[in-house]
Amino acid sequence: MRAAPSTVDLLLTPVHRWVWADVQRRAHKMLRFSETEADGARDITRAAEITRDPTLRRLYLRHADDEQRHACLFKRRGRELLDSPQGRVFEANWLAPGERGLDDLDVGTENDESLLAFLHLSEKAAAGRFVVYGKVLDCDPQTRAMFARILEDEEFHMTYTRKQLARLSPRRQGLRLWQARAGRIWKAYLRLATALAALLGTVMLAVQYFLILPLFVVLARRAARREPEGFVPSRAGLTLERQY
Ligand SMILES: [Fe+2]
Ligand SMILES: [Fe+2]
Repeated sequence: MRAAPSTVDLLLTPVHRWVWADVQRRAHKMLRFSETEADGARDITRAAEITRDPTLRRLYLRHADDEQRHACLFKRRGRELLDSPQGRVFEANWLAPGERGLDDLDVGTENDESLLAFLHLSEKAAAGRFVVYGKVLDCDPQTRAMFARILEDEEFHMTYTRKQLARLSPRRQGLRLWQARAGRIWKAYLRLATALAALLGTVMLAVQYFLILPLFVVLARRAARREPEGFVPSRAGLTLERQY
């Protein structure tokens, strides 16, 4: 199976080109990719522990080994590119997420079929993105070559997951893929909703701070001007015969 970028990623090619043009951002993204690949390796190792299918276990172990190697490659390249370890840069992870670390998948709750369907879609999406990243990296042939090397593994991952799904679930493979697709759409919606909520929260706090709070400052100052200065005589008519 050959990887092909999605229409969205193709349309976003100029954005990807901008994202990858900056060396510092590229370095930080490499380190971030390294973390997600290592995370994916741990999840797939867990899947290998759980599965009762010996063929799948062997494939999962090879897959986990590949992801761990990708993590090392990304980390090494990130460190090579990184001039200063400090310095925060905008990484645009939402636009160029790489391999999504299996979307925080809970491997223990999945069966072999649903896991294979999910893995197939994840690997296919990641492989498509890596094709685009390779295309826009004219300025960095070394990183481009690394992506090309990793892409071969990703194509193997998307191929074996599809074939194994067809073996385990010949009749319901289409349904499994649709269920996995629906899960991915739901997670994408949650990511979008979370980002939107964070944005709205920031806007609302800014409005409160810069528009509503100054109004109370003006009112408080006006009220303060009406107060007499200096000591104020105590209220008349107080009696000591009762408590209040
Ligand atoms: Fe990978
Ligand atoms: Fe992969």
